[in-house]
Amino acid sequence: MNQQASLIVETSSGEMEHFGMKNFLSLIDNYRQETDLEILTNFDHGPGLEECQAAIEAGYNLVHFDGSHLPYEENVKITKILVEQAHQKGVLVEAEMDRILGESRAHLETPESIQASGSYTDPDRAAAFVAETGCDILAVFIGNLHGVYQQEPRLDLERLRLIAQKVPCFLSLHGGSGLLEDDVKEAIQIGKIVKINVNTELRLAYRTTLENVLRGSDEVAIYKIMPPVIAAVQKVVEEKIQLFRQKQTCLFGHQ
Ligand code: 13P
Repeated sequence: MNQQASLIVETSSGEMEHFGMKNFLSLIDNYRQETDLEILTNFDHGPGLEECQAAIEAGYNLVHFDGSHLPYEENVKITKILVEQAHQKGVLVEAEMDRILGESRAHLETPESIQASGSYTDPDRAAAFVAETGCDILAVFIGNLHGVYQQEPRLDLERLRLIAQKVPCFLSLHGGSGLLEDDVKEAIQIGKIVKINVNTELRLAYRTTLENVLRGSDEVAIYKIMPPVIAAVQKVVEEKIQLFRQKQTCLFGHQ
């Protein structure tokens, strides 16, 4: 099924090292030309100013500086510098104030036990952070966790509503795998979310399908091995596009 949707394709630091920034960006450029789709590239969870500057220089459209490990003032300082530099080049900046916990993998712990160790985004503090830094998108922590769990982590949607009322910029929802569809729909309806990050569900589809294909097969030609794996990942992407396509809050055209 051809979804003809605008997309954000992102790489983590690890993926950036693995593919090489230029290779990744060329691949996306090639795909843009072939498909005529609007595709933004994002550097996900950039750990420091230098790494984000390198992504801007290389040609990413969007950089996510994750300063949630830093003291508030230090995070504000670096985010602000990055926003000034990025905007000069027409690049958007996503900032993070409260750490989004978990890792992109299958977890045995309950979501509640991980959520309890986090610091949920406070609407007033978020508004002050955005005013001080001028960031374009704020990654919020409202119970969303990286990874998939035995039960779906529940989102604090009342908190999201308050954040959306107080914060003037767009918002992003990390930890897009393994959420309840109704929570996702309501979060999108609230109106400020322009970016939902999905990783684990794609990786699980890739790995499980690859394992199934290889089991009992002596095939060695990659192009013969990969089609079902690609189809399985594509299925997840298409389902997410369907789910996220509830409401048009548009990031495209803002860069
Ligand atoms: P998931 O691994 O839960 O999909 O989250 C991905 C993510 O938020 C990357 O920044």
